[in-house]
Amino acid sequence: MKKRDTIVRYTAPERINHWITAFCFMLAAISGLGFFFPSFNWLMYVLGTPQLARILHPFVGVVMFASFIIMFFRYWHHNLINKEDIFWAKNIRKIIANEEVGDVGRYNLGQKFVFWSAILLLILLLVSGVIIWRPWFAPAFPIPVIRFGLMLHSFAAVGLIVVIMVHIYAALWVKGTITAMVEGWVTKSWAKKHHPRWYRELRQKQEKSTE
Ligand code: HEM
Repeated sequence: MKKRDTIVRYTAPERINHWITAFCFMLAAISGLGFFFPSFNWLMYVLGTPQLARILHPFVGVVMFASFIIMFFRYWHHNLINKEDIFWAKNIRKIIANEEVGDVGRYNLGQKFVFWSAILLLILLLVSGVIIWRPWFAPAFPIPVIRFGLMLHSFAAVGLIVVIMVHIYAALWVKGTITAMVEGWVTKSWAKKHHPRWYRELRQKQEKSTE
């Protein structure tokens, strides 16, 4: 691929930030499923031993949260909902049939949904995680609050796992997207096809800077 046919979508620090979040998510999700179902107990070995998994799982969760917060402040303004998104949602049938609709900016409504769900679920996971974190914080809370915390933590975890499965599926489904987060670039034709308004805005910025 010639350099002039490509556009930078993510810089190296952005990609490192994303993959740290993704790596922590994998470790936390796998070890968490290991605690949850007796038949999945063997998954706890992802963090060494079951005892280590019990100690490390909350710390991995906190690192995932901290890493995602950096992503949140990087991208929140690209994920605000606008009227093009309503048009996109009304034409969801076409999207499923692999057609592009509307003047999509840097992210489409599906990606925005993943973004806002991720921050909401991660906040719920952090708050409930602190409440149930033995031996450090849990003793400060009454038993009914800990029970509620455990339920909330489990529901939020299942929710985040489902949301990230959708995220991974979409990243693989739209050809050329994985390169964006692995190598940092996309082709101009990818940008024009999937994110036409983002492409136009980038070109306008480039033209202004060369004037
Ligand atoms: C584990 C496997 C994962 C894969 C293969 C993956 C893949 C990708 C790819 C290819 C992109 C670029 C999409 C684009 O620019 O159009 C992306 C963006 C992004 N990813 Fe992931 N990702 C993974 C996990 C995660 C996790 C665990 C989170 C958060 C908890 C996350 C949050 C994001 C966010 C926030 C963006 C930017 C999109 C936006 O702001 O709407 N990803 N990911």
